[in-house]
Amino acid sequence: MTTPSTETTEIHVVGLCGSLREGGYTRQALKVALRGAEGPGVTTVILDLDPYDLPFCRGKDNQTTYGENVRRFRSAIRAADAIIIATPEYHGSFSGVVKNALDLAGFEEFEGKMIGLVGVSGGRYGASDALNTLRAIGRSLHAWVVPSQATIPSAWESFDENGEPRSQQDLHRLLAVGREVARFARLHKCGEHMQFLKEWETAPVNPGGHAQLAAPPRT
Ligand SMILES: Cc1cc2nc3c(=O)[nH]c(=O)nc-3n(C[C@H](O)[C@H](O)[C@H](O)COP(=O)(O)O)c2cc1C
Repeated sequence: MTTPSTETTEIHVVGLCGSLREGGYTRQALKVALRGAEGPGVTTVILDLDPYDLPFCRGKDNQTTYGENVRRFRSAIRAADAIIIATPEYHGSFSGVVKNALDLAGFEEFEGKMIGLVGVSGGRYGASDALNTLRAIGRSLHAWVVPSQATIPSAWESFDENGEPRSQQDLHRLLAVGREVARFARLHKCGEHMQFLKEWETAPVNPGGHAQLAAPPRT
């Protein structure tokens, strides 16, 4: 069997929307991030949790009794090469629906995959606390959480009537998350491991000095 090259490797990016609120800013931010992932050979989809009506996780022993909705949810995540998790900041962390959804899944869905993180908050301090915790969860699922992340503070005033970020900085941060998960998911899948390592190691832009002026802001 020949391993596909970077150019021919197709990847699928799933955006997990961690807000059930209709018209929520989490979904708007996620849509922009997924746009950053788009390109030849990339498919993207938003996974809204509401239609799955997931039950609470009752522990692993009951996994087989969870039923069709959980099975469908897990298989939608399993189909992904990369997952962008988008969450609102709720009481200094990420939303309960995301936690429950992650608890219903596990290594089978996440191990070895790229994860990108996006958060929105009502307050001025952004969703960094939520994303920091999700970053640790990504590690415990043996996934690769990419360095770029985007948090949109004061979300209620940060999007225009078309759902586009009002600030260029927010736009670039969201697009960068999508771009980075797609890029590394492809490199990870393509089998050109030396190329992957080379690109991984050279990926971060030095956040100090002149590099900061030339590159989009990193968070
Ligand atoms: C239960 C709850 C807790 C919240 N906690 C915080 C918080 O700790 N910090 C903050 O900045 N905003 C907080 N907010 C505001 C949300 O982050 C904000 O409304 C965000 O836009 C919600 O996402 P959505 O627009 O997708 O619904 C909270 C909102 C709710 C409903």
